[in-house]
Amino acid sequence: MPPGLRKIQFCSWGLLLWLSIGSAGDAPPTPQTKCTNFQNANLLRGTNLKVQFLLFTPLDPSCGQLVQESSDIQNSGFNATLGTKLLIHGFRALGTKPSWIDKFIGTLLRAANANVIAVDWVYGSTGVYFSAVENVVKLGLEISRFLRKLLVLGVPESSIHIIGVSLGAHVGGMVGHFYKGQLGRITGLDPAGPEYTKASLEERLDPGDARFVEAIHTDADSEYGGWVTLLG
Ligand SMILES: *[C@@H]1O[C@H](CO)[C@@H](O)[C@H](O)[C@H]1NC(C)=O
Repeated sequence: MPPGLRKIQFCSWGLLLWLSIGSAGDAPPTPQTKCTNFQNANLLRGTNLKVQFLLFTPLDPSCGQLVQESSDIQNSGFNATLGTKLLIHGFRALGTKPSWIDKFIGTLLRAANANVIAVDWVYGSTGVYFSAVENVVKLGLEISRFLRKLLVLGVPESSIHIIGVSLGAHVGGMVGHFYKGQLGRITGLDPAGPEYTKASLEERLDPGDARFVEAIHTDADSEYGGWVTLLG
């Protein structure tokens, strides 16, 4: 291990210790919104998916609220009368947070009064491309389970819009398939090519996956696979 890395790990443990000591005993009297960021799989590269669902609302577009369970959703700023946009990133070679995602979320929330939920799967999306592809089914199931919690709260299937980037587009297609094409809309941004050009309809984004399905290619058939593929 390079000495620099060890120092970083040491620092982060120190920070954790400091945070846990600092937060003991002086909990704020009123509940405050706790903001959660994307994970960073750089140091602790795992095979686990460790999916985080982060809710962003028009009232606070830069604060991600961790919403894993139904109770989290009910205690968050989630508004069931608004549409919900679920954002799924793609392959992340270095296991880092997608650099474009904050801006993307801000732009979405300026354009639409909606719930935006970013799916953080940087853990499962890192390593080699083919292991990320293997995680796609597991991730699709996990997202489907999460959506079920929204439906139970009275959210109509038709109000759900999945936006999937690169490999995330096919994850969206799989989720849509699990919901028998009844979700409102799926947008695939530069759907990933490798491993998918010969995939079956269940495995990739196809027009039957939602009431409205669109794919936007910025760099079809080139060796770069599109700008979004590069950004992941
Ligand atoms: C949900 O959104 C609707 C439409 O903007 C708004 O009228 C309503 O007050 C919101 N509900 C809550 C609890 O914020």
